[in-house]
Amino acid sequence: MMDEGYFVPVAELKRMETETLEGRWVRLQHFDGTQREVWVVDQEVAWPEGRLIVSRTDPEGIITHANHTFVEMSGYDREELMGSTHAILRHPDMPKEVFAEMWQTLLQGRNWLGYLKNLRKDGRYYWVKATVMPNIRDGELKGYTSVRKRPSRDKVREYEVLYQQYRDAAVS
Ligand SMILES: Cc1cc2nc3c(=O)[nH]c(=O)nc-3n(C[C@H](O)[C@H](O)[C@H](O)COP(=O)(O)O)c2cc1C
Repeated sequence: MMDEGYFVPVAELKRMETETLEGRWVRLQHFDGTQREVWVVDQEVAWPEGRLIVSRTDPEGIITHANHTFVEMSGYDREELMGSTHAILRHPDMPKEVFAEMWQTLLQGRNWLGYLKNLRKDGRYYWVKATVMPNIRDGELKGYTSVRKRPSRDKVREYEVLYQQYRDAAVS
């Protein structure tokens, strides 16, 4: 007979998996009105030297390809990323205006360049200098591609201040 204390409910397992580092749960409000609780740890993860993070999506923004560095840096399994949108990486410190501007640019058929603070599955974060491109062939949108590089520390400091100002303006 199985020992009673042996059985751990799935929700508890998920919590144990997530809360391995010291952090806090934060409510994240998505653009489509949905909300979710994310685990946030105030700890940055270093970029692997000389590597790029690359991903592709379908026209709806659903991830169809992720390179090894994307999987490694996000902390998710490849299976968890495929079929999800990039909102899985959304950090609560990121102002929504940044993504509104990104999508406005992409929907005009133009490339977007910017700085993003991304949330890992374990709650830690990493900054990226991202280029996001619409893939248009024969006048038709086939999807999107993003290539991210390691940003300079000066740019990270600059955008930390800027995004803090956005957040302050949002609550006041
Ligand atoms: C190709 C591509 C790459 C993207 N990369 C990121 C990313 O690295 N981090 C991020 O938070 N959002 C990224 N986004 C934007 C997300 O799709 C989403 O708009 C954003 O996370 C805000 O989520 P929300 O509008 O659901 O709140 C990317 C979008 C596309 C099309």
